Amino acid sequence: MRISIFGLGYVGVVTAACLARDGHEVIGVDVNSNKVALVNSGHCPIVEPGLGDLLAGGVQTGKIRATTDSAEAVASSDLSLISVGTPSSRQGSTDLTYVHSVCKEIGAAIHQQSKEHVVVLRSTVPPGTLKECQDIFENVAKFMPVHLAFNPEFLREGSAIKDYNQPPYTIIGTSDPVAEGAVRKMYAAVEAPVIVIKPETAEMVKFVANTWHAAKVSFANEIGRVARGFGIDGHEVMEIIVRDTKLNISPTYMRPGFAYGGSCLPKDVSALLYCARMMDTPAPLLQAIPVTNNLQIELVAQRVLQAKVRRIALLGLAFKPETDDLRESPSVVLAKRLLGEGCEIKIYDLPVYEAKLMGTNLAYIKSNLPHFEDLLVATPEEAIQSAELVIVAHSTSKIREFVYSSCGHLQVLDVNGAL
Ligand SMILES: NC(=O)c1ccc[n+]([C@@H]2O[C@H](COP(=O)([O-])OP(=O)(O)OC[C@H]3O[C@@H](n4cnc5c(N)ncnc54)[C@H](O)[C@@H]3O)[C@@H](O)[C@H]2O)c1
Repeated sequence: MRISIFGLGYVGVVTAACLARDGHEVIGVDVNSNKVALVNSGHCPIVEPGLGDLLAGGVQTGKIRATTDSAEAVASSDLSLISVGTPSSRQGSTDLTYVHSVCKEIGAAIHQQSKEHVVVLRSTVPPGTLKECQDIFENVAKFMPVHLAFNPEFLREGSAIKDYNQPPYTIIGTSDPVAEGAVRKMYAAVEAPVIVIKPETAEMVKFVANTWHAAKVSFANEIGRVARGFGIDGHEVMEIIVRDTKLNISPTYMRPGFAYGGSCLPKDVSALLYCARMMDTPAPLLQAIPVTNNLQIELVAQRVLQAKVRRIALLGLAFKPETDDLRESPSVVLAKRLLGEGCEIKIYDLPVYEAKLMGTNLAYIKSNLPHFEDLLVATPEEAIQSAELVIVAHSTSKIREFVYSSCGHLQVLDVNGAL
């Protein structure tokens, strides 16, 4: 393919060298004429292991050249990649000035040359940016079709070529089949699963990936600080933690949903925080865990109150389905909060109901939640009788089927977002 790359920074140069190696004809474009001259003379404008030789090889074989002339680059290519910088503004938002101006330049060239073109945005941008680019192209390229995709880059400086060759996946954010086909063809030599999703989702995925990496670093650092306070080696702790790929480094617990609860997580987070406080070890990330957890419950309570209903059915009371354990259950906190606001609640949770009948949970309910005894009902049908709103706390398949078949006339709030 003939590919122009706008922005010869870390991403642009690595991409140029790797695409040329894979057989494509690449034209690099940058407003910085020094970078353009360096590339044309076979010199790499950035320091990155292995990149100098790869780039020099591409220039020598005539597969790579660079220019400051965007119109000429668009004329000589079928697809343009945008990898210009997207720095932080003073307020912390993403400064999209360079992205917008490159879109205008490419759009003007497309209009001038009356040829359709594929444009692939690789810069890291907030959700909704590709749509903004589309609006720019509609204004500037006028009636010429521009096929757009967002394709985030996951390389890390220092291991950029290896990361380019073996990405976790290739994400193509587009609903345009021409753009999708072009991106697939461009990466034909890269062995990675391809995920085609909406542009906004793809844009969000890249933000989340980087935020998750930052959160991991900060989490490990806080654990290191607290461990040091105990005289324990934090490296050893974290090495053992990451060896558990069932619960620790795994998809488990990694879905947006309701708050955590139960007899262990709240108690043990609280205990670790207490230790950190006693050692005078700052751990703001760990401290935020119960704060955001309680907020998750409060936000559900506020959504219920905003619905201006009084009669509520709560499907699920224990801290998770298929257990009768009510200790630190977020559903209990939610129910208490709503009762305090004057709501009438009927609660369906079969294991808790049966445990109450058999007496195993009765003592706990009587001593901790005396007013809950009368709220528990035997069937979901009883719970929704006269209800105006149903809160689905346990999104089991049985509960979902019941909600689909019997709650069509009611407002439904699934706290796990599964319905
Ligand atoms: N650096 C990384 O490791 C990395 C990894 C993944 C994604 N990203 C993202 O990729 C994007 C680029 O990052 P980078 O580190 O390569 O940036 P960079 O700052 O190193 O390079 C950006 C280049 O764009 C050029 N440029 C600006 N306006 C231009 C225009 N109108 N026409 C042509 N060129 C223009 C600049 O002169 C500069 O050379 C950013 O959005 C970044 O967040 C970076």
